[in-house]
Amino acid sequence: MKLIKPYLLAITTVFFVNCASKKEAVTLKDSYKKDFYIGTALSADQIEQKNPKVDSLIRKEFNAITAENSMKSMFVHPEKNKYDFTLADKFVAYGEKNKMFIHGHTLIWHSQLAPWMEKIKDSTQMKAFMKDHITTIVSKYKGRIGSWDVVNEALNDDGTLRKSIFLNTLGEKYLVDAFKLAAAADPKADLYYNDYNNEEPAKREGTINLIKKIKAAGGKIDGVGIQAHWRLESPSLEEIEKSILAYSALGVKVAFTELDITVLPNPWDLKGADVNQKFEENPKMNPYAEKLPDSVQTKLAARYASIFKLFLKHKDKISRVTFWGVYDGQSWLNDWPIKGRTNYPLLFDAVLKPKKAYNSVIELKEIKE
Ligand code: G3I
Repeated sequence: MKLIKPYLLAITTVFFVNCASKKEAVTLKDSYKKDFYIGTALSADQIEQKNPKVDSLIRKEFNAITAENSMKSMFVHPEKNKYDFTLADKFVAYGEKNKMFIHGHTLIWHSQLAPWMEKIKDSTQMKAFMKDHITTIVSKYKGRIGSWDVVNEALNDDGTLRKSIFLNTLGEKYLVDAFKLAAAADPKADLYYNDYNNEEPAKREGTINLIKKIKAAGGKIDGVGIQAHWRLESPSLEEIEKSILAYSALGVKVAFTELDITVLPNPWDLKGADVNQKFEENPKMNPYAEKLPDSVQTKLAARYASIFKLFLKHKDKISRVTFWGVYDGQSWLNDWPIKGRTNYPLLFDAVLKPKKAYNSVIELKEIKE
């Protein structure tokens, strides 16, 4: 008996040490490696690896990257005859060094344009801009960037075409032109149309029409990006599922390209609110400035679990799920739609610790395998 006890103790210790190291080895990218890429958006500081702790978290957990801002028009093409690829080059080199899937964001978008682009007035100038911009950027990274958001946010929420500078100068032909130019510059890259709210019925219909038109006009389009800037209660899983099915029925891949889930109140939901109310100064608009209550933490974990469960159900149709940021402290949602709030939309908290939501996403895979 006396001999058995230390023997049992040794076995138990080995068992728990093994479990602990196994647990430590579990990461998002490894858990989902047979299903789809798990990506993150990188800020300029993250591309430059300014914070070693953040950097090792990125390399440990994610196998796909998108530049949050650094490849947008205003940064890479600041003047008509001048491109600046300093950060974009570092971004691509970072992805290659870490063997990550590299996604390009974004070529044709009405927002974050360089000031000179906003002055383009006619179809001749706009045609020349699109040809030069798309061809130069896509050819530069030919064979190195796996997929591109060729056109971003071209639709209104009701599914009609947004009256952007591109539509106003070229008409809707600009859409197929953009996809043709990108395909000519890198025939092997996957080409996506990317938007928000396109899991909602009206915008989904608009997106379906857009894809059909591009295909009918001979454009190459390989995927739809559903940005997935979502909330705790909406959109419904039903609408998300209908969208996955409807898009993939058109023969294109579905990617969730900018996933985050806000837990804060939305000022536009405050019906009858005084339009002059200063939301920034209203503490009701920033209810979790100190800490996220456990009850909301649990809701967020459950919401993430249900979303990933749906993604797993349709993993054959989904190419990539990318979070819009690495950890809560750096999310754009701390400054939108109200500046200076404390939001909790991602899987890692402000001090980089995995949240309950992280565990709920990982556990979905542990139960299955
Ligand atoms: O360019 C200035 C820079 O000169 C200055 O030093 C810096 C100081 O704050 O601000 C810089 O501009 C900011 C820019 O990000 C780059 O950091 C803008 O103020 C800020 O508004 C801008 O926000 C970005 C936003 O797109 C712009 O529309 C967010 O970081 C970025 O997360 C967000 O991402 C978009 C996707 O590209 C498309 N889908 C929606 C998504 C969320 O809006």
